[in-house]
Amino acid sequence: MKKRLRVGVFDSGIGGISVLKECVRIAPDAKYYYLGDNGRAPYGSRSEEEIARFTREALSVFRRKKVDVAVIACNTATAVAADEMRKEFTFPVIGVEPAVKPAAKNAKNILVLATERTAKSAKLKMLLGRFPDCDFRVFACMELAGAIEKYFSSQEPFLLSAHLPRGRYDGVVLGCTHYSFFAKEISKFYSAPVYDGNTGVAKRLAQILKLIMLGRSAHFLSTEKTNNCFSFSAKTSVKFIGKWRNINKSVYLRTFVLEKDEKK
Ligand code: DGL
Repeated sequence: MKKRLRVGVFDSGIGGISVLKECVRIAPDAKYYYLGDNGRAPYGSRSEEEIARFTREALSVFRRKKVDVAVIACNTATAVAADEMRKEFTFPVIGVEPAVKPAAKNAKNILVLATERTAKSAKLKMLLGRFPDCDFRVFACMELAGAIEKYFSSQEPFLLSAHLPRGRYDGVVLGCTHYSFFAKEISKFYSAPVYDGNTGVAKRLAQILKLIMLGRSAHFLSTEKTNNCFSFSAKTSVKFIGKWRNINKSVYLRTFVLEKDEKK
């Protein structure tokens, strides 16, 4: 019988369900666990330490559920903690980032809506820096994710337009998974196409699940401290095995830094 791979999907609250929907559509054979930290949502204005701690707790739940892959379906937690989590957990961790790339393909004057923490993040700054031909306005919607969370949990009404900045844009990036539930309304408000990263995440998930099913993954253990998930030893190894790009597409690579007691 074909093994059903397990996938944990996590968000501060209900926002990640908009990602889960795409994952189920594109990778329907996996077994999904969804964890919404509804009791502590929203995360958007919390400290980085808190967001990292909550994310770690969520992924620890997934570890106990023996997931094969975890999806951080939260832009805020991805911006703050995804890199750290990739070093701590042995299963692949996929994050969601504001869909700046597809927006930049089609638009020039782009509005990026996000939570405060995502808007201020170094990750977003770096991402925007990759598209010097576009004009970006990043707007932190301070209360919007919380209002959407309440709307779904206790049917508390809210005025969407009161949370959105005015202006003319030819593309709008939804940099928070909660906003995706109102994609149509936001697109209508600006008379512009909206972009979210949900389909991209689901496609990446399907790709990783396929590689796991094929048994094509390689883990590199290293004692080297590294800032990204590909250590020097992994990069050097793949240089000898084959071209970096091809290998990266056809084998799922992870590298881990051994902790002190593991080195013995
Ligand atoms: N849905 C989350 C995001 O994508 C978090 C929203 C929040 O909790 O503030 O950023």
